[in-house]
Amino acid sequence: MCGIVGYVGNGSAREIIIDGLKKLEYRGYDSSGIAFDAGGKIEIRKCQGRISNLEAILSKETIDAHTGIGHTRWATHGAPSDVNAHPHANSDGSIAIVHNGILENYIEIKEWLAKDYEITFKSETDSEVIAHLIGIYYDGNLEDAVFKAIDRMRGAYALCVVAKDEPDKIVAVRKDAPLIAGIGHGCNFIASDIPALLKYVREIYLIENNETVVVTADNIKIYNADRQEVKRDVFHVNWDADAAEKDGYSHFMLKEIHEQPKGIYETLHRRIDENGEIVLDGIKMTKSDIENFNKVYIVACGTAYHAGLVGKSAIEKMAHIPVEVEVASEFRYRDPFVDDKTLFIAISQSGETLDTLAALREAKRKGARVLSVVNVVGSSVARESDDVFYTWAGPEIAVASTKAYTTQLMCMYIIALYMGRTKGTIDEAYYKEFINELALIPDKLEKVLADEPKIEELAKQLYRNEHVFFIGRGPDAGVSYEGSLKLKEISYINSFAIAAGELKHGTIALIEQDTVVVALATQDRLFEKMLSNIQEVKARGAYVIGLAKEGNADIEKQADKTIYIPQCIDEITPLLSVVPLQMLAYYIAKLRGCDIDKPKNLAKSVTVE
Ligand code: AGP
Repeated sequence: MCGIVGYVGNGSAREIIIDGLKKLEYRGYDSSGIAFDAGGKIEIRKCQGRISNLEAILSKETIDAHTGIGHTRWATHGAPSDVNAHPHANSDGSIAIVHNGILENYIEIKEWLAKDYEITFKSETDSEVIAHLIGIYYDGNLEDAVFKAIDRMRGAYALCVVAKDEPDKIVAVRKDAPLIAGIGHGCNFIASDIPALLKYVREIYLIENNETVVVTADNIKIYNADRQEVKRDVFHVNWDADAAEKDGYSHFMLKEIHEQPKGIYETLHRRIDENGEIVLDGIKMTKSDIENFNKVYIVACGTAYHAGLVGKSAIEKMAHIPVEVEVASEFRYRDPFVDDKTLFIAISQSGETLDTLAALREAKRKGARVLSVVNVVGSSVARESDDVFYTWAGPEIAVASTKAYTTQLMCMYIIALYMGRTKGTIDEAYYKEFINELALIPDKLEKVLADEPKIEELAKQLYRNEHVFFIGRGPDAGVSYEGSLKLKEISYINSFAIAAGELKHGTIALIEQDTVVVALATQDRLFEKMLSNIQEVKARGAYVIGLAKEGNADIEKQADKTIYIPQCIDEITPLLSVVPLQMLAYYIAKLRGCDIDKPKNLAKSVTVE
C-alpha cells in the first residue's frame, strides 16, 4: 500500500517527510519521492528503490523548504521506475500531487486532456492524470481546483496536492483510502496513517470519507462532500511506535488477516465493469487462445500451491479443461509434457520464488502460454509471463501468507469464469449467480472475522497439543492443506492434512485418544460423507473441531466443537473457511510464544533452490 506524508510549518519539510516515509517502509513499496516548495517553484525528487536512494539524491543539495509532500509507492498502474514514482506534476510544474489508490476512469480523463488540452504525459500512471486535471482547473485557489477535479474522478484514493502559487498550503482528499491530519505547534501534517507522524504529534484529525482537508502552518480546515466546513473532534493517539506500524494490531499477520475483506473486494471489483462483465486488465489471452488450450498446469509453492488446488476445481468445472496442479520444485525437473496447447498458470505472492520462476521458464521454453497470478507488481514472475493477473492484496509483510491466499483464490474464480464464459461452457445464469456470490464475500468475511474471540478461546484449549490433523473433501481438502501449513509454520506444531476419504488407507492408524482433528465439512454434497469420517476418528478417541456452513447443525452431533461460516455456494467456501483456520493458527502460535511474523527457518520469499 502506498504511503503519504505532508508537512507545512516552520521546520524542515525535507527532514520531517523523509523521516515519516521511513516509518511507512514496513508497508512495502518500490519507489519514493518528495515535492517541496523551493521559493516560488516546486521541486520534485523521486526514484525507484529504497528511501535511502532518495536520501542520496537529496544529500547533494541544500534544501530549505517548509512545505512539502512525500510518497512511497506500491505499484499498481505502471511498473516500478523513476518516472512512475510519485510525486507527479502538471505540465508547467505549478501543481504537484501524491496519490494512494486507483483512479478508475483515468483513461477517459487522460484522453480528454490529451485531446482538448494537448497535454502529453511522462509516466504510465493513473496518478499523473490527477496533477494535470487539477492544473487545468487551478485559478489561484487550490482547494477550489481540487474540488472541481474530484468531481470528475472515479475510484478509491487518498490525494495530497501542493501549488507553486500557494506555497504555505497543502490540500488533501480522502475517498476510500485512509488519511489523517496531524496537529502540530507552528506546523501541521497530513499522512496516510499514524506511524508517519507519531514522532511529531499525538493529536490528530481522522479524515472521513469524501472529505477534503486544507492544511496550513497554523490551521486545518475540513470540508465535507458538499464543500461545507465541518468540525472534528481531536483524536489522541496513545500507540507506541511498534504498535503503530501494525495499525494497532499485535502482529502483521493478524492485521493482514483482517485486511482480507478489502483485498478480496479490490481484487474482484476492479475486474467487473458497470454491466457486471469481467474485464481482465493486463490479460492479452484471446478467445481463440482459450479455445486452443487442451491442458492447464497450475504451478506454485506453499500457500500459492494450495490456492491452485482450489483453482483446479473451478477451472475444470467452468472451462471444461483438464487441470494439473503441481509444486514447482517437482514440475521443473520432471520434463513435463507441455506444448503450445498448454496454459501454464504460475501463482506467486512475491513473484520471486525461484522454483516457480524456473518452472515458468521451463514451460515457456516448451511453448506454453504463461499466465501469472502475482501480488508484487513488476516482479520477475510478472515480467516473464505472457499475461499477468494481479492480486490487489497490498503488501503482505508476515511470512505466513493469508490475504495473498484469499485474493489468489478470487483470481482463480475470475479466471475460471472468464474462460468458461469465453468458451460458452457456462451459461449467463450461472455466470451472473457466481459473480453475485463472489460480490457478497467481503461482508460474509467480516462476519467470520467477528468470531475471532471464539477462535481465540478454542486456541486456549488446543495450543499445548503437539499433533493436529486437518481433513476435508473436494475444495475442503485444499483448504485443509492450507490450514495445516498455517499452523505448522507459525506454531511449530506437527500438523498434517489429508483428503478425508484417504484416512482409512493408513493414516487413521495415527489417530488415538485426544488426537485433535479439524474436519472441514462445508460441501453440501459431501456433508454426509464427512460426518462418517468424523465418526471414524471419533471412534478412535479423536477430539474433533468441525467446520461447516451455518444451518448444518447435524455436525454438532459428531464434533466436539464446531466453527460455522456463513452460507454460500459450495465452490467458494474456501474464501471463508480458511479464515478461522488462519486465526486458529495465529492464536495458538501466540499462546506458544512464537515469533509469528518471522517464524524460525522461514523467509517471506524463497529465492533459492
Ligand atoms: C506460506 O505461508 C509461506 N510463506 C510459503 O509457503 C509461501 O506461500 C511460498 O514460499 C510461496 O511464496 P510465493 O507465493 O511468494 O511464491
